[in-house]
Amino acid sequence: MDDEDGYFPEPIAATYDESSSDMFAPDAVGPVVDFLAEQAGGGRALELGVGTGRIALPLAARGVPVHGIDLSRAMVARLRAKPGGDAIGVTIGDFATTKVDGDFSVAYLVFNTIMNLTTQDAQVACFRNVAGHLAPGGCFVVEVMVPELRKLPPGQHAVPFHVGAERLGFDTYDVATQAMSSHHVRVADGQATYFEIPFRYVWPAELDLMARLAGLRLRERWEGWAREPFTHDSGRHVSVWEKPAH
Ligand SMILES: C[S@@+](CC[C@H](N)C(=O)[O-])C[C@H]1O[C@@H](n2cnc3c(N)ncnc32)[C@H](O)[C@@H]1O
Repeated sequence: MDDEDGYFPEPIAATYDESSSDMFAPDAVGPVVDFLAEQAGGGRALELGVGTGRIALPLAARGVPVHGIDLSRAMVARLRAKPGGDAIGVTIGDFATTKVDGDFSVAYLVFNTIMNLTTQDAQVACFRNVAGHLAPGGCFVVEVMVPELRKLPPGQHAVPFHVGAERLGFDTYDVATQAMSSHHVRVADGQATYFEIPFRYVWPAELDLMARLAGLRLRERWEGWAREPFTHDSGRHVSVWEKPAH
């Protein structure tokens, strides 16, 4: 990583909302905001990896005070330029370690962003950092995919997630280290551009242990924001760990 904006520098930030347009649709955002507003219960919310404000802005519009942390000034500049963007406090820094004043009823890390921390130590540090920001009884909400290792036959290490004329995407897995990368190819005017974002994939049970190391305990786990049951077939989960009230 050679850019101070991490893996979301200016060229990625410039096209982020458009290239993730499905995730900005009202039926994708609405259930997230409903869920988080309920968890906030009148208190403050902390978004790790606030980005361009996909969730922070509608959550703040619901009356929940939101503070964000993000490494990428380029992403945060997009948030600032949107209506209501000046109402969201943002601290530039690494969400595994960055401290923010005050305490929060809910902290949240959505859209697979926990996997942007590419070591187990950094993911463990992130849980500790969040626990230090939660008020007693507060909770940490994470939305992340279940690693797709069942799609890997022996000898294969790539799983496509989008195949289209204008966009190609596939993930590669190293099952020895839990290292993973998303490879993105975009085609426009006959020219292809390529970028890669590294991740560390992480299992639900491993996240539960990280939470326990940080003094948190699992309260809820669902397949999605509308509280669909989490089963052996679920491709992602929404998990909620709470900081004990006493
Ligand atoms: C996939 S985007 C998600 C943005 C927003 N949460 C959303 O749902 O649209 C991931 C964001 O997390 C930020 N990010 C990734 N790793 C980070 C880290 N270690 N510390 C702070 N921000 C980070 C990126 O800069 C980017 O803005």
